[in-house]
Amino acid sequence: MNAPRKLYIRTFGCQMNEYDSARTADALAHSHGLEIAERPEEADVLLVNTCSVREKAQEKVFSELGRWRALKRNRPELVIGVGGCVASQEGDAIRTRAPHVDIVYGPRTLQRVPGMLDDVLRARRPQVDVSFPEIEKFDRLPAPGVNGPTAFVSVMEGCSKYCSFCIVPYTRGEEFSRGFKDVLEEVRGLARRGVREVTFLGQNVNAYRGAVDEGRPASLARLVAAAAGVDGIGRIRYTTSHPSQMSRDLVDAYREVPALAGHLHLPVQSGSDRVLKLMNRPPRVDRYRATVARLRERRPGISISSDFIVGFPGETDTDFQATLDLVDEIGFDTSFSFVYSRRPGTPAAELPDCVPPAEKKARLAELQARLAGHAAKVAAGMAGTVQKVLVERPSKKDPAMLCGRTDNNRVVNFASPAGDLLIGRFVNVRIDEVLPNSLRGTVVPKRLHETRSRA
Ligand code: SAM
Ligand code: F3S
Repeated sequence: MNAPRKLYIRTFGCQMNEYDSARTADALAHSHGLEIAERPEEADVLLVNTCSVREKAQEKVFSELGRWRALKRNRPELVIGVGGCVASQEGDAIRTRAPHVDIVYGPRTLQRVPGMLDDVLRARRPQVDVSFPEIEKFDRLPAPGVNGPTAFVSVMEGCSKYCSFCIVPYTRGEEFSRGFKDVLEEVRGLARRGVREVTFLGQNVNAYRGAVDEGRPASLARLVAAAAGVDGIGRIRYTTSHPSQMSRDLVDAYREVPALAGHLHLPVQSGSDRVLKLMNRPPRVDRYRATVARLRERRPGISISSDFIVGFPGETDTDFQATLDLVDEIGFDTSFSFVYSRRPGTPAAELPDCVPPAEKKARLAELQARLAGHAAKVAAGMAGTVQKVLVERPSKKDPAMLCGRTDNNRVVNFASPAGDLLIGRFVNVRIDEVLPNSLRGTVVPKRLHETRSRA
């Protein structure tokens, strides 16, 4: 049989999954020289990295596998693999529903995919490994590929919070942090290859406790401060954080570390204490409010976004109204909202769910309209201001323009006085126009901005 040459990966779900897919591709490029194919028809190895947070995402995986079954009928040598949270949850059972699958791997065993591929090619026998080895994942992966001036760095895995609705602790395992030095070394390597902005990733990234050679484990705040000291790194983000772990040092970092982006995704889920309790989500709403107030005191103008679930079992009109009130009070920036999806095996799956589906849909529509209004208000408020923008690439719509992101993650397009030379640099951009999904601006000399911000 000819050696496989091309890999196609389809990714569902969160940034953690995007990151895992990129690392799996890096590993297979390193081990088997596999190049990325744009379409499944062109590939010899097909992987789907799955998400099981909501039922819809889980079902999409099996539709994709159905399409791939047709490809395999014509080309039996195709190798098909399933990774991520559905794989972790279902394990070998995936092959009952989709017997044409050759490899099943979990979020913590993706580093073993090259070896599993070898075994499949050699013995033509399916390989299943969805175990939770702790350290191995990061030790065994090659250095990540670099694609532009921004990069993700996974600093911890798993979640030990067990929100009553969420499947993640069961599919990704308990929290486990990478060593402090190891992460910093990765950041330094990325900076040497032109990365200027890093986003630290973790299901519960502010639970980070990275082992150091001596003394107490390092917190996320310490990691952020250390990364800010790395030559070339000008902006740091992290996602996603849990409100119960916004420790004092992390809140203070917004005053002390200018490179820390003034934007925080801090999911609250609901504005009702009663629902938060049922969700097993400390802290209660008042503590969330107090955290936001402290953040705003340390970094005036910080943008806060959140995730929301509507239609949680037993959510009343009053509970939902409390969520709308909190949205108005905080004035969240661009956020995510979902209808509750029952996940078998989670505690909430046992609660009586008496909110009718039409009511859930109506609540979601109302919440999304409210959220969109606030995000539009934040964008409108940016008109005329000067924003720090990391220039990422030529603009998609007009290649004569450049495109970058502001601190609060909004895309800005602007004419470049220096052509592509600005890519990978931080520039100051005055926002001239606010469009529905992006901003337009003009580059202003640094000194002008500095004079203005002192005024
Ligand atoms: N810390 C993680 C993050 O935000 O990436 C949380 C993981 S979860 C993948 C992301 C969001 O999905 C949660 O904040 C929650 O709003 C939503 N979610 C999780 N389980 C859900 C469920 N059963 N039904 C609806 N939405 C859910
Ligand atoms: Fe899920 Fe809650 Fe953890 S939403 S990922 S159990 S913090």
